[in-house]
Amino acid sequence: METTEVLIIGAGAAGLMCAATAGYRGKQVTVVDMGKKPGRKILISGGGRCNFTNENATPDNYLCQNPHFVKSALGRYSAQDFIELVERHGLNYHHKTLGQLFCDDSAQDLVDILLTECEWAGVQLELRSEVTSVCKNDNGFFVTTTSKSYQCETLVVASGGLTMPKLGATPIGYKIAEQFGLNVLPTTAALVPFTLHDHDKERFDGLSGISIATTVTSENKVTFRENILFTHRGLSGPAILQISSFWQAGQAVTINLLPDSPIETLINDWRNSCAQKSLKNMLCTVLPKRFIEAMVSQHEIIDKAINQISKSEVQALSEYLHKWQIKPNGTEGYRTAEVTLGGVDTDELSSKTYESKKVENLYFIGEVIDVTGWLGGYNFQACWSQGVACGQAV
Ligand code: FDA
Repeated sequence: METTEVLIIGAGAAGLMCAATAGYRGKQVTVVDMGKKPGRKILISGGGRCNFTNENATPDNYLCQNPHFVKSALGRYSAQDFIELVERHGLNYHHKTLGQLFCDDSAQDLVDILLTECEWAGVQLELRSEVTSVCKNDNGFFVTTTSKSYQCETLVVASGGLTMPKLGATPIGYKIAEQFGLNVLPTTAALVPFTLHDHDKERFDGLSGISIATTVTSENKVTFRENILFTHRGLSGPAILQISSFWQAGQAVTINLLPDSPIETLINDWRNSCAQKSLKNMLCTVLPKRFIEAMVSQHEIIDKAINQISKSEVQALSEYLHKWQIKPNGTEGYRTAEVTLGGVDTDELSSKTYESKKVENLYFIGEVIDVTGWLGGYNFQACWSQGVACGQAV
């Protein structure tokens, strides 16, 4: 059995950030992880380049049953603070769209920064160690892993959510919370592609690979303006991933296929410039041809010349193109989701320290708790902010 002051379960973004912060404060810190490498989700994120933060991250970019909960940590350690850290380490990075920052070369560069910070802070890292049980005793917690047992004063659970089971996602964090009487909110896959009912699958057959700039709106009126992508399994793309976090089974989503150009205006313009051309030809100038052929070709007006289209036909077309409703069959689930919605109820935790209100010296951070960011670097930023908040407190 080994003793350590602080034991952290999970060498992901939240766990490593917390470890370095606590280590710099002179704490004896051990991080255990069942994987053979640390930061495995960081490595696969952002197509291998990790969208490591978002310059515009605010509490509004997070879903949490208590929307005020995220304010404290994000306010005390912001995206700018993390950018300063990676710049100190000389990370080459670039801005993409919507405030998203990515590594220029590889997400490994970012993991190396976190590992360097942990090394400088004297953190001990134990890989291939799966936590199997946790017990509370007079000296803190007794934690058993598949390789060793630990006695620690303070336990930080940073074991992540349920996404990507292939990468070692386990429900251990929820189990520990429940074991100590903490409420765990129901979990579900989020930032995840939609699957489709058979009739839609047939209609969309052959559209795989088509991407369209849209706005997508959920039934509770949340809207994202980004691309949708037809895949051979259903619908994906950033707009769909974003809206999936706000979608519930049985609900529809509304897609505006031409968010920048009302079809009424386009048809008026076309009446002046190319009245003899067919609607189909003209629609193919603003939307992908394959999409028009598969989707709009069922409509009789499609072969009419622009100057033959009536007002009511324009109205019907407008409904179709600007308020296209799709009722997904479901989502692809945890297998491909980026995050887990729900988790350890934030009402059980201090928003300043992430310590459990019920059990002294027991902390929860990262994806295991009920804080879920939008797509775009917000989830890693939550991990950095929470890791620092917790690391300063343990
Ligand atoms: P994380 O899951 O990273 O780490 C938890 C660790 O705990 C794991 O290493 C696991 O092995 C370990 N563990 C679990 N159970 C254990 C046990 N019983 N014993 C020991 N160890 C155990 N976010 C973002 O902001 N920008 C992006 O670009 C992306 N891209 C992206 C792509 C893909 C494909 C996915 C799946 C996810 C993203 N994300 C993202 C989301 C982001 O990866 C996620 O929010 C963070 O990795 C969560 O970090 P945590 O540290 O909380 O958990």
